[in-house]
Amino acid sequence: MMITEGSVRIASADGVFYNPKMELNRDLLSAAVGVLGVKEFCDGHSATGIKALRAILENDCVESVDAVDLSKRACAIIESNIGLNNAKGITVINDDIRRVLMEKKYDFVEIDPFGTPAPYFASLAESFSWRKSGHFSVTATDTAVLCGAEAKACKRMYGSVPFHNEIVHESALRILIARIQSIFAEKNLAVTPILSISHRHYLKVFFAVTKSAVLCDKSLAEIKFMAYCEKCKHRKYIKPGDGSTCELCTSRMIVTGPFWSGLLQDSEFLEKMIAEIEKRQYKNMKEELKLLNTLKDENFDGFCFELHTLFKGKTIPKTIDALDRLHSMGFKAVSTSYKNWIIRTNASVKEILEE
Ligand SMILES: C[S@@+](CC[C@H](N)C(=O)[O-])C[C@H]1O[C@@H](n2cnc3c(N)ncnc32)[C@H](O)[C@@H]1O
Ligand SMILES: [Zn+2]
Repeated sequence: MMITEGSVRIASADGVFYNPKMELNRDLLSAAVGVLGVKEFCDGHSATGIKALRAILENDCVESVDAVDLSKRACAIIESNIGLNNAKGITVINDDIRRVLMEKKYDFVEIDPFGTPAPYFASLAESFSWRKSGHFSVTATDTAVLCGAEAKACKRMYGSVPFHNEIVHESALRILIARIQSIFAEKNLAVTPILSISHRHYLKVFFAVTKSAVLCDKSLAEIKFMAYCEKCKHRKYIKPGDGSTCELCTSRMIVTGPFWSGLLQDSEFLEKMIAEIEKRQYKNMKEELKLLNTLKDENFDGFCFELHTLFKGKTIPKTIDALDRLHSMGFKAVSTSYKNWIIRTNASVKEILEE
């Protein structure tokens, strides 16, 4: 079957993965490659080669691309899709991306496996340890693990005790980020999320890497645990060893984590992405701009609260009314990219519920 996406045309084939629902993910990746001025791009799990082709054909800055896939069949399809687009500058590598990363370094590495990206973090860190800076992005589709439906697997793969409640979209992102930061820190590599998305069935996070022990220490200081009161829904970030009794209702709080507690987005990068997406006019532009603008608005320190859970047994306010009330009280408050009725605010549970 022939597929047109962005500026490329590819043929899909039986046994080689292509998911049309991930087009938005691929649009954002290609725009990010342009915004970041990437020269050497590595498509680590290439399948049909679509991301490799889009990176080089949609971005003048890209000089060379390695399209890596473990499957022989996928590599044959990538070669034929390169021919179909008459693309120059792409090298197809039929190997395990981990082996490739142990030997090569790139400006940007894209990691998009089936399920968990966890097995790739160590080799990613190894590859970046030879550079002063760079970027990479990771797609995770193992949301059952990160969102706490499979808590034991989360402990094994991400070293974190997850939430399995109404705020998992956010906590899943924060577990993934903290894990990557910890692994990169071994090599004095500081890793900052510049765009974090929890969309449909997947998480996607873009990271900036900088070699600096000082910056590493700074970001590691933002990896914290969370204490959550199941009774009154109060929550707070805590450090290991801190007490966990609820200040509001004196109940015992459950402790989860570790999580990244810093900002999930880089506002300046988001501004540039918005301008780039407006320029590119992809078919999903409306949805992409809505998502990026919402992420920009919600990029401040605050917790996420789901209104239905918080107001259980009371009259649940409309999101817009809850936000207006918080604004009039002087708090920051927005509805999030996760769900319209999940809000982010710097107000506490008590202040949100105040009559
Ligand atoms: C989810 S698909 C990638 C989809 C593709 N990035 C896209 O946007 O259409 C995962 C691909 O990774 C390949 N793969 C699995 N393990 C791998 C490994 N260790 N190294 C390289 N490729 C691998 C699979 O053969 C498969 O083609
Ligand atoms: Zn409480």
